[in-house]
Amino acid sequence: MTDDAKLHRMIARAIRAPSSHNSQPWLFRPTESGIDLLADRTRALPVTDPEDRELTISCGCALFGLRVAAAAEGLGAAVTALPDGPGEERLAHLAFTGPAEPELRDLASLIDLRQTWRKAFTDDPMDKDVLTTLQEASAREGTWFAPLEGDAPREAAAKLVAEGDAAQWADPRWRRELAQWMHPRRAGDGLALPGLAVPVARMVVRRFDIGDGVAAHDADLADHSPLLAVLGTEGDTAADWLATGQALHHLLLLGVKAGLGASYLNQPIEVIHLRPRLQALTGQMGYPQILLRMGHAAMDQTPSPRRAVQDVLTEGPSSADASG
Ligand SMILES: Cc1cc2nc3c(=O)[nH]c(=O)nc-3n(C[C@H](O)[C@H](O)[C@H](O)COP(=O)(O)O)c2cc1C
Repeated sequence: MTDDAKLHRMIARAIRAPSSHNSQPWLFRPTESGIDLLADRTRALPVTDPEDRELTISCGCALFGLRVAAAAEGLGAAVTALPDGPGEERLAHLAFTGPAEPELRDLASLIDLRQTWRKAFTDDPMDKDVLTTLQEASAREGTWFAPLEGDAPREAAAKLVAEGDAAQWADPRWRRELAQWMHPRRAGDGLALPGLAVPVARMVVRRFDIGDGVAAHDADLADHSPLLAVLGTEGDTAADWLATGQALHHLLLLGVKAGLGASYLNQPIEVIHLRPRLQALTGQMGYPQILLRMGHAAMDQTPSPRRAVQDVLTEGPSSADASG
């Protein structure tokens, strides 16, 4: 393995990855030849994400961050996905081997600049070349990135987002789960709110269905985003979810490079009966995994909190390296 300072720097970069509800459902285990990435299923979201699909996507984002971080340290990174099979805790083994990928190294400085931008975008249109770059990057990770273009598909998607919002907000179990992840910033995870606002916000979310207002707001955001696009995969297995996470983080970082922010409108994927209707708008084979809106944004919010590196490092029983 590499020295402690390098390891610390790499994990510090990897944990800046986005994750559903900022749940940070990952653990890192140094091994002889590299690092294991483990799922921390104690951080699962059983109501929003009963199959750990988004949990695995979030870990895929961290895996991509780790690849970028390795490249920044001059290390090559060979990924073995799901070395113990699907459903196991070890989602990937990253072996430090081969030459560092210069293209990934160049993304390292963007990791700290990326943030989920939930506000409106400026009206500046998306450059077509940037879209092509994002599509090529997602294809390299084994996924597709399909823009929803034209008024009819965009309006249809906005309606699905509103339907998804209404279904989720009407479900008290879903509201309770969301409330559990509303934390003061010092907690280091969750959807950070100012300390004073937390009890009130949690109480409102837990007790009241405010879905109508949220749905209208989200549908409006969907309709007024320079780019509305679905990231998807041919299959719908843990390997596809891990690939989705890597593609997602890759294209988010390329977006930052082009001055673009992004946020998520995943409701029509999380609400399972709406998923085929979103799929029908994409013109692709397979399964939608993430619905993103992208556009030019200031990206000047306070960064969302993360747990400390030592809290996501695990030693655990040393498993055989995936590389044998
Ligand atoms: C798989 C996945 C699903 C997400 N779903 C949503 C979502 O539905 N709505 C939303 O506002 N943010 C969503 N997010 C964004 C997270 O809330 C965000 O990454 C987290 O709060 C950390 O903030 P940051 O991205 O600014 O670092 C999602 C992120 C991931 C990786």
